[in-house]
Amino acid sequence: MNAGKQCRIVVTRKLPGPVMELFHSSCACLVNPDERTWSRGEILRQAREHAADTLVVMAMDRIDAGLIEALPGTVRVVATFSVGHDHIDLAAAGRRGIAVLSTPDVLSDAVADLGVLLLLGAARRAYEAMHLIYGRTWTGWSPTQVIGRDVSGGRLGIVGMGRIGRAVARRARHGFGMEVHYHNRTRLAAELEDGATFHARLDDLLPLSDFLMLAAPATPDTRRLLNARSIERLPNGAVVANVSRGDLVDDEALVAALHSGRVMAAGLDVFNGEPAIHEGYLGLPNVFLQPHQGSSTIETRLRMGALLLDSITRVRAGQTVANRLV
Ligand code: DGY
Repeated sequence: MNAGKQCRIVVTRKLPGPVMELFHSSCACLVNPDERTWSRGEILRQAREHAADTLVVMAMDRIDAGLIEALPGTVRVVATFSVGHDHIDLAAAGRRGIAVLSTPDVLSDAVADLGVLLLLGAARRAYEAMHLIYGRTWTGWSPTQVIGRDVSGGRLGIVGMGRIGRAVARRARHGFGMEVHYHNRTRLAAELEDGATFHARLDDLLPLSDFLMLAAPATPDTRRLLNARSIERLPNGAVVANVSRGDLVDDEALVAALHSGRVMAAGLDVFNGEPAIHEGYLGLPNVFLQPHQGSSTIETRLRMGALLLDSITRVRAGQTVANRLV
């Protein structure tokens, strides 16, 4: 690390080049040089050996109470390069007086764009269509070939109407003329609802969701909310998309519903136990799968990096920042 710089940061995973340049320009950074997740022991050793004041971690790092308690006393900030923070024990960080920062807002558009891709990819059977091409079995246009469903003008149910849910809703309503319904812990103000209809109970949203978008964070309350019982409440042949976390889905139940056609198709960007993927999905034609790509654009990565760097600097200077979780 560069001795002349005041902040000392350990980054648990390589970030895109321009983001790393940004970090290196103002802090002394030690970065995991390999394309793999560090073990808990490696995180602790690097933090200790480099006397880090800040850890920049990823959604795949388990920052649980044990790890937080074992961190060297120099660490004052844990900044996650993600909006999701279900991998961090906030209470444990609070007990040690460690500030936790995340990257809200700056990635909502990119994730919502990917959400639309998932809806379209699933409803238009993109995987099967691509298979015709790459499997070299396409014999030419036919009126019966790979018949999908119209997303335009359809009825969309969104679970979780935070920043990402609202960005999906905007695209759905203004881009695709969809009728938007949502379920959230609390009802939004009218200007944020933007014409969407609130349902206090998930059970009331589901029967209206010809298209269902999961955009709620992973919490004990949202765990496995899409399960055999809730799938039964969806309209026949619904299309399901998930841009949030795999934890929200009971994979066995969704695979069974996709297999039977009860759910027409699913577009999934996130999975239980990533990078493992339930084998059932891989044998199905009616899925459109992405490898956790929601925020993967260079513009978004740069905004995430700039936000974290700015807020790390401010927190170290004793200032208040909006993206501080504890
Ligand atoms: C997020 O920001 O939470 C994305 O899912 C990446 O982990």
